[in-house]
Amino acid sequence: MSSVSFDHVTKRFGDTTAVDDLTLEVADREFMVLLGPSGCGKTTALRMIAGLESVTEGELRIGERRVNDVDARDRDISMVFQSYALYPHMTVRKNIESPLVATRHARPAAAERAARVREAADVLDLAPYLDRKPGELSGGQRQRVALARAIVRRPQVFLMDEPLSNLDAKLRTQTRLELVELWRRLEATFIYVTHDQVEAMTMASRIAVIADGRLQQVGPPQAVYDRPANLFVAGFIGSPPMNMIAGEVDRSPLAGPLRVRTAIGNIPLPTPPTTNLHSVVAGIRPEHLRLGGSDLSVEVLNVEQLGHERHVICRAGDARWVVRQAAHEPAPAVGERVGLGVDGASLHLFDPTSTERIA
Ligand SMILES: Nc1ncnc2c1ncn2[C@@H]1O[C@H](COP(=O)(O)OP(=O)(O)O)[C@@H](O)[C@H]1O
Ligand SMILES: [Mg+2]
Repeated sequence: MSSVSFDHVTKRFGDTTAVDDLTLEVADREFMVLLGPSGCGKTTALRMIAGLESVTEGELRIGERRVNDVDARDRDISMVFQSYALYPHMTVRKNIESPLVATRHARPAAAERAARVREAADVLDLAPYLDRKPGELSGGQRQRVALARAIVRRPQVFLMDEPLSNLDAKLRTQTRLELVELWRRLEATFIYVTHDQVEAMTMASRIAVIADGRLQQVGPPQAVYDRPANLFVAGFIGSPPMNMIAGEVDRSPLAGPLRVRTAIGNIPLPTPPTTNLHSVVAGIRPEHLRLGGSDLSVEVLNVEQLGHERHVICRAGDARWVVRQAAHEPAPAVGERVGLGVDGASLHLFDPTSTERIA
């Protein structure tokens, strides 16, 4: 069993609360992504699992075992850092082997070590480079050496701290796929930290969204995308981000169908919200707006061609909105005033005070 669980875990550095009352269960063999902006406590959470930071309050378990006071070397985990420092004077082979040599547990015999290095090198397509030094490899190959070094010990849990952020965009996409394949093949638990919501969406079994040290929402990527729990998650997940505007729920029967009144027009509501709130924040994803509709009125500021689709940037009151348009549809002109149609069923409503989602 290699589940990992945080039970009301808090980590403080002096006056700074880096992780605030975190309760999270990472299931055995799950690919869990901790997602949030820089400084939200992701690295600190990982370092507590690794045993590199102490736990201030709460309980941390790996499998059934409470590990608050267990030495880092006795936790059966491997961590890959953003700045993976390889030994420059050693060959790739020696670099991959190093965790098996520098162990305070019984060191595997030379033949066993060689077999494990070969296996790790095969998994990461590094066999042709085993006799090179890190300086003779590309950035992507060096990153794969760091991953091979992490798997050579065959740990139960892998911790990865933004391991792709030093790679260029194309290599990042490719390595993303390789990591997911690696996870399937190793049948181990992965806990992966990133600030990049695309990485989270594409790789995770479940995403845990964190802001200011606090867990905001946890769930499968599509569920988090479809039903963000609050304004933070709504704004953080999705690219381009969800369009937002303040409005008032108009319940007067004389005004016609139920709707949200905003500065740029009225958004029809298919069902009454489960709240008596008058003021709300309405959120609409770029793919749920239709150019040529008549619910809202905006001004076109720019048109971004992406080949397979188009992003129409609009001024919507004080905000900038993005409308996603298929490439074959006619593009609007910059400066034009256009109408937008909204499918009420895809509308998100939030409480402006608590910032929580309204059902
Ligand atoms: N060793 C430390 N001493 C003091 N403050 C720290 C230390 N490590 C992290 N912090 C603070 O804890 C917060 C969370 O940091 P971190 O876990 O590195 O965030 P992230 O990885 O999400 O960018 C930040 O405010 C950071 O400045
Ligand atoms: Mg970090």
